[in-house]
Amino acid sequence: MRTEESPLRVGVVGLGYAGEQHLKNFVRMPNVEAVALAGLEEERLRELGEHYGVRDLHGSWEDLVARDDLDVVSIGAPNHLHAPIAIAALEGGRHVLCEKPLARTGDEAESIVRAAQKADRAVHIAFTQRERGDVQALRRHIEEGNLGRIYHAKATWMRRNGIPGMGGWFTSKAMAGGGPLIDLGVHMVDMALYLMGEPQVESVSCATYAELGPQGRGGWQDKGMMTGDNAYEVEDLATAFIRLSDGATLNLEAGWAVYRESSDDFGVTLYGTDGGAEMKVRNYGTRDTVRIYTDVAGVPAVVTPEIEPREGHYAVVRRFVETIRSGSWKGQHGEDGLGRARIIDACYVSALEGREVSLRDVDEEETV
Ligand SMILES: NC(=O)c1ccc[n+]([C@@H]2O[C@H](COP(=O)([O-])OP(=O)(O)OC[C@H]3O[C@@H](n4cnc5c(N)ncnc54)[C@H](O)[C@@H]3O)[C@@H](O)[C@H]2O)c1
Repeated sequence: MRTEESPLRVGVVGLGYAGEQHLKNFVRMPNVEAVALAGLEEERLRELGEHYGVRDLHGSWEDLVARDDLDVVSIGAPNHLHAPIAIAALEGGRHVLCEKPLARTGDEAESIVRAAQKADRAVHIAFTQRERGDVQALRRHIEEGNLGRIYHAKATWMRRNGIPGMGGWFTSKAMAGGGPLIDLGVHMVDMALYLMGEPQVESVSCATYAELGPQGRGGWQDKGMMTGDNAYEVEDLATAFIRLSDGATLNLEAGWAVYRESSDDFGVTLYGTDGGAEMKVRNYGTRDTVRIYTDVAGVPAVVTPEIEPREGHYAVVRRFVETIRSGSWKGQHGEDGLGRARIIDACYVSALEGREVSLRDVDEEETV
């Protein structure tokens, strides 16, 4: 019989960067057992299983989800599998930790949230970038009111040669749902809105481009196990102007491959009525990433806080485990992932139709 003190039993799907992060961090948690792992690459499945001490190895997610001994299913699989895996797991009474984006579309994300609500199980999404030490420190600074009212922000994630898994699932519209907008942009929309205190998104005006990917340029060497020979079907750059409640605005830019300096950079700029802030992360660095702009004794001053780095996946997994242990997950059925998915949906509609799109046109959230 399961008791409160029984170890939490976790099954992880996916053997790529994401799956390994889930596995590595679940096994770091006290009283948590990673009992099952699933993935298609046989050798890597054996290697990871051995390295992290996982007993049972499965060649498909269906076999893992069919087990009757799991408390948690953790999803590090391609985007098109998030909804089928999550819904099957929830219907089986499991809690779910799912990689970002929650799903390829808002409607798919909504089906996950509904399944979680019906099963009364938690769904957390691995929005790992907002868990960084610098983002958390900036958020505390904002919560103390030091920036005043933030009226404009910029969020950007740009790479020179950063198309992951060229010709595989990442570059398939059907499997990924989109390119850098849904892959990197969703992190940056999440980070910016989180820092701004979750304003409502009113409308978006987005443009997407596919200039380098279709020519076979911009591939990220050795990144993404599931490469292939399929055509390049998604954007390689997206830009959006996002109108928020209270007249605030957000500029978003997400690119896997553009002619720029050869680095992988993301950041957020915030302009407030009493202060400003800039976070610039170069090549996933964790030191010296934040500048805060203020006035001291009537003259402009720049503060460079010393911030302890923090691992995103560790923080996500720890909070998820704590939530389940607490026995209370009301309002934690993936609603935040659904909200972000609706924004990405609106961006793709806007880009396709070449017009500004109101979130009310795509937002079914009030019915959930
Ligand atoms: N939060 C982050 O920092 C972060 C970083 C990277 C990726 N991701 C997300 O994680 C997910 C996976 O990305 P990745 O880079 O690890 O991808 P990947 O292509 O490297 O790995 C995907 C894994 O899914 C497995 N898989 C595919 N079909 C399967 C099936 N039918 N049954 C069982 N396993 C199956 C593959 O075998 C592979 O091991 C994506 O949703 C991506 O957006 C998040």
